Amino acid sequence: MNAGPQIELAGIERVFHLGDSAVHALAGVDLSIDAGEYLSVMGPSGSGKSTLLNVLGLLDSPNAGIYRLEGRDVTTLSPAEQARVRSQRIGFVFQSFHLVPRLTAAENIALPMMLAGVAPSERAPRVEKALADFGLADRARHRPDELSGGQRQRVAIARATVMQPAMLLADEPTGNLDRATGEEVIRLLEELHHRGVTLIMVTHDQDIGARAHRRIYMEDGAIKRDSLRDGGPPLSPGPGAPGQEGKSQPRAADTRSGKDE
Ligand SMILES: Nc1ncnc2c1ncn2[C@@H]1O[C@H](COP(=O)(O)OP(=O)(O)O)[C@@H](O)[C@H]1O
Ligand SMILES: [Mg+2]
Repeated sequence: MNAGPQIELAGIERVFHLGDSAVHALAGVDLSIDAGEYLSVMGPSGSGKSTLLNVLGLLDSPNAGIYRLEGRDVTTLSPAEQARVRSQRIGFVFQSFHLVPRLTAAENIALPMMLAGVAPSERAPRVEKALADFGLADRARHRPDELSGGQRQRVAIARATVMQPAMLLADEPTGNLDRATGEEVIRLLEELHHRGVTLIMVTHDQDIGARAHRRIYMEDGAIKRDSLRDGGPPLSPGPGAPGQEGKSQPRAADTRSGKDE
């Protein structure tokens, strides 16, 4: 067993070249995450949040730096080995669900098991259970375009977790959902976290971001704040921290103004 952090990023760089110009999507990211943590990642659009998640999920490779996952350097693995690690250890949930349109809910959920070579006899009961667990039993044969946004994201979460990954990466999982449906999806993700999975979630929503036990804030491809390192809740614009992203205003002054009603 690996006793160190589950995830260790050291000096991670990701540069995209567009014509003559280079975009440093990740510019020297160091990050260490223990198994079972619950992290939110916030920051302005273009700050590198998705790129960070893609690197963590082995969907993208850094140009420099080392990524150790469960003690093992995964940056130097072959694409086939990376795909294996991804399939066995990592679940990914996207803002726009990324379901396969022509497959039913049940088939979408079965897909990771098919790719991993799980026998059909074992797949069927696991799909049944996932459908039941996520309240989709009566939607098994529906295709994504026959499902609501919340149902689609539940299928996506079922698909992301059917291989029982050690970590779940969610990139703005509520971005395409209304508030109430988004809440429901967050509760599902948090329930999975309670069962032991490491949960790393990118969000634009201050309230959702604040629920995570550890909150990191990115800007220009770098981690500008990390509540574990810096202490305190760093994401709500408090006194002395002007100019931060986000619509929500500090409410304490409003609700505790002491004015008689
Ligand atoms: N595939 C790509 N090709 C070129 N530039 C990219 C690509 N992906 C991301 N970028 C650029 O990298 C920066 C970070 O992007 P991204 O990680 O998507 O930010 P965020 O998720 O925080 O909005 C942005 O400037 C974006 O335009
Ligand atoms: Mg993004």
